[in-house]
Amino acid sequence: MHSSLGPAINRRALLVGGTAVAASALFPRIARATAAVPKAIELTAAPGRASLVGSPYPRTNVWCYGDRIPGPEIRLRQDEPVRLAVRNNLPEDTTVHWHGIRLPNAMDGVPGLTQPPIKPGESFTYEFTPPDAGTFWYHPHADSLQQLGRGLAGALIIEEPEPVPVDRDVVWVLSDWRLRSDAQIAPGFGSGMEAAMSGRVGNTVTVNGGVSEEEPVRAGERIRLRLVNASLARIMALRFEGHRPIVVATDGQPCDPHEPDNGRLLLAPAMRVDLILDMQGEPGRRYRVVDDFYDELSYWLTQLAYNDEPPLRAHPLDGPLRLPRNPVPEPDLTTAERHELRLQGGMMSGGGMMGRGGMMGMGSEASWAINGHSMTGDGHVGVPPLFTLRRGRSCVLSMRNETAWWHPMHLHGHSFRVLSRNGAAVPHRQWADTVLVRPKQTVKIAFVADNPGDWMLHCHVTDHQASGMMTMLRVA
Ligand code: C2O
Ligand code: CU
Repeated sequence: MHSSLGPAINRRALLVGGTAVAASALFPRIARATAAVPKAIELTAAPGRASLVGSPYPRTNVWCYGDRIPGPEIRLRQDEPVRLAVRNNLPEDTTVHWHGIRLPNAMDGVPGLTQPPIKPGESFTYEFTPPDAGTFWYHPHADSLQQLGRGLAGALIIEEPEPVPVDRDVVWVLSDWRLRSDAQIAPGFGSGMEAAMSGRVGNTVTVNGGVSEEEPVRAGERIRLRLVNASLARIMALRFEGHRPIVVATDGQPCDPHEPDNGRLLLAPAMRVDLILDMQGEPGRRYRVVDDFYDELSYWLTQLAYNDEPPLRAHPLDGPLRLPRNPVPEPDLTTAERHELRLQGGMMSGGGMMGRGGMMGMGSEASWAINGHSMTGDGHVGVPPLFTLRRGRSCVLSMRNETAWWHPMHLHGHSFRVLSRNGAAVPHRQWADTVLVRPKQTVKIAFVADNPGDWMLHCHVTDHQASGMMTMLRVA
């Protein structure tokens, strides 16, 4: 329902910003030939109202981009330059981070570190050329708990030069809200207790801005389903009853097509997965999409609702599932520089704080640390990097989770190979910009430090980031 309406609404929203959008939709060849002229898009962050739960509930007061939840779906082409003018009509400073895009450091949206914050009433223009096709997203990097938690997030889709042969390309932006019974957002962002545990997990999960009863499908069709977890803190484990989704990309980067382990797709905050879903169910039937990540808190996200039409085709397509590779440099493991990141802090099941003695600069707001240091908030001026990598150098990072909690760790400005978990090689050539590290697990990643600048590395459970699980790397 929401996803099928999505594109039309998005198109209308984007048209306000620039005619280049319409031109590229109608005349792709012309748009590519003139790709040197950046596509112009305008985006305004402002308070608004959205019907998250539907009647009889009132609309929810939110903060949003382009007056809608989620923000307008921005569709660009790989290697096509874009100019995004962001206007801030919020009552406080903001920035936009183009999560996962390998862009110039000055366009990364970290206040204080890569740009001055955008003050209320002011604008900032981001300009970059996305080098990779895939599923990305955008969100603020200022007062993140409140701004993301009130709804500021949108999908950023970078299209392949040649379209991938599917019947439909569908995006689900999944968001988690903590609503009161009057459908208004519960106050209390940044509770210290929650920050030291799983973060602000909400009570209402929306698909493209609304609680979803069903998403319409037709038997026999092949869908590319792009999932974006735009939640503050909620980790999801999705099962598609009666279906066998194939993962073809993680965090925008193509992988070897594979079925998720036990048919259960882990999707932590900020992570994206592209699935190929062949609709092998029966016309007229419904199949649940279940999220059972948290023990005893399983719920269904939506239902795949088959219409009554006969199958689109008699046999499933066996066309290529493999997406074309992006130009991400392959790290050289033999010469790589090696570093270790110890993830520390948080509440233990027993109730005490972990590793507290080792943390420096632990204010009352710090519950977490990386290698003994707690960087809090959204980004920092004048803080020395954890380490500096020479430009072009390969780096193997070992992230050792000494805590009792899960952490989706995000590195800005780069995509990395996920090498191993507790020493066991990770299959299917998986690349990521956000990797979920289980309690007590050690995950090794590798990347080429080819993008100069100061890059944040933090947990994307927003409460964890804000309360100390953040650091910065320099590529010089
Ligand atoms: Cu998606 Cu530093 O963020
Ligand atoms: Cu975390």
